Order: sequence, then structure tokens, then C-alpha cells
Amino acid sequence: MAEFKVEQRGEGIQLWTIDGETRRNAISRAMLNELEALVTRVSSGRDVRVVVITGAGDKAFCAGADLKERATMSEAEVRAFLDQLRRTFRAIERSDCVFIAAINGAAFGGGTELALSCDLRVAAPVAELGLTEVRIGIIPGGGGTQRLSRLIGPGRAKDLILTGRRLNAAEAFTFGVVNRLAPEGRLVETALALAEAIRENAPVAVSTAKHAIDEGLSLDLDEALALELRHYEKVLATEDRLEGLRAFAEKRPPRFRGR
Ligand code: COA
Repeated sequence: MAEFKVEQRGEGIQLWTIDGETRRNAISRAMLNELEALVTRVSSGRDVRVVVITGAGDKAFCAGADLKERATMSEAEVRAFLDQLRRTFRAIERSDCVFIAAINGAAFGGGTELALSCDLRVAAPVAELGLTEVRIGIIPGGGGTQRLSRLIGPGRAKDLILTGRRLNAAEAFTFGVVNRLAPEGRLVETALALAEAIRENAPVAVSTAKHAIDEGLSLDLDEALALELRHYEKVLATEDRLEGLRAFAEKRPPRFRGR
């Protein structure tokens, strides 16, 4: 059975819906296999520029690891699962596609980690986020300790991770965990509008800017500025840069071709 519903939503934009409402869209091995395959597929092509990931139903975006399946797994199997989870989340970050999490309900543990590995997060009013792992005797294993502290700083990350508490959508916005709050009933529409605002920009410029930001985070400022310059070289060589200048001069919208 397919674990995701994949829909084309306009040119260059896909909507992936985790289709496991009865288990609150938890990350099972089957779901993870399919997520990894989907990420690999869109990242190796040029057709899809932005992916919006959401969850089926209105209860959960993703309730984290599938705890029923986890209870049946050996330590070695848990390690293998974590390896694949970390590899998949990293592939999302390394992809030239932009990923947006549209958080439609609860996102706990691995659900919040999935959202954190996306480039941007949009939340419905009913969304709840939390790295709740310490409450069940583990720590975040899908990059949560590292990505949350890079996103909102170590102090606020510790506040959330050591208490394991759940944030509602408004708190998550205030903490800087989510980028945008969607009006009630308009989550997917809001996320797709954000996707469209990104998609209409020059493809090489968008993916290069994404990588420049991500790769610079662990560098000191001088190294990071040198990195930005190296990335700038990539856009300097594109036809789209010249098209951008022509369109400006001719007072018309640019027609980017992704090269
Ligand atoms: N793994 C596997 N199954 C899960 C699950 C998970 N992480 N989270 C929920 N489910 C299952 C429940 O066991 C239940 O199954 P059942 O109908 O066979 O009993 C079903 O999904 C519905 O769960 P329920 O708790 O009744 O739904 P809810 O809408 O009231 O609450 C959540 C949804 C997500 C808030 C709640 O299920 C929850 O807190 N889940 C655990 C989250 C968690 O701790 N994740 C791991 C963090 S490390």
C-alpha cells in the first residue's frame, strides 16, 4: 500500500500527504522507505522544484516513530532505522528542491524532526510540535537536538527538549520553530502559495541560496562569506541571470529556464 499520496499542484510543485491517518501518520519502516525513494526521485530530476509535505486527517502531521512497530524491533533494527531516518532527512536538506512542511496537527518526536529537516514550516492553528523523546526514555535521534538548536538557539532548544513539552501553533511561531501560521482551514492553500512564490524565482538561484544558507551555518563568518561567493559564481554563469536583467530592462516578468 502506498504510504504517501503524491499530487502535482501546479507547475513544479508537488504535495505529498502522509497517508497513515489511523496511526497518526507515524513513521514506520514502510513509510520511511517510501519517503527516501520519493526524495531521491525528485532530487535527481528537474521537474519538481518545491515539495509540500503534510499529513492525512486533522489530528496529526506525524506522530513520530511508529511506536507499535518500534516495540517489535531489536536494538540493531532500531539503529538501522535511525541511520535511514538521518540519511533521508539529510537528503531533504541536500536536495535542490525546496521542502515545506505543512503541519496540520500533532508533530511529535520524529514528526517535528521531519518538519525541521524541511526548509520552511507552515502551521495550522491546531498544530502542536514537540521533541518529546525524553518523556519516553530516549533523545531525539533524527537530528532534533542539532537542527532545533541551530534554528532557534541552544537556550530555547534546551527549554523544549529537556522538558519534552508540546508547543501549540502560536507558541511555535513565537519560538521561531514555524515560519508562518495559516488561517483555519487554509493550511495547504497557504503552503502552496508559499511554494508558488518560491517556484516562480530562478531555479538555480533558489537552490544555490538554500545551500549557501545551510552550508554556512557551521562556519565562522569569514569562511561563510567566502562560501557565499563560491555559490554566487554558480548563478553568475547562468542564462537566467541575463534573462533577469533583460526582463527588468523590458519591464516584463522574467521567463526562467533553470540554466
Ligand atoms: N506510533 C504508532 N501508533 C501511534 C502513534 C505512534 N507514534 N501515535 C498514535 N498512534 C496510534 C494510537 O496507538 C492509536 O491506535 P489505536 O487506534 O490502534 O489505539 C491511533 O494512532 C490514534 O491515537 P490516539 O492517541 O487515540 O489519537 P489522538 O488523535 O487522540 O492523539 C497524538 C494523537 C499524536 C497526539 C497521540 O496519539 C500521541 O501523543 N501519540 C504519541 C506521540 C509520541 O509520543 N511520539 C513519539 C515521540 S518520541
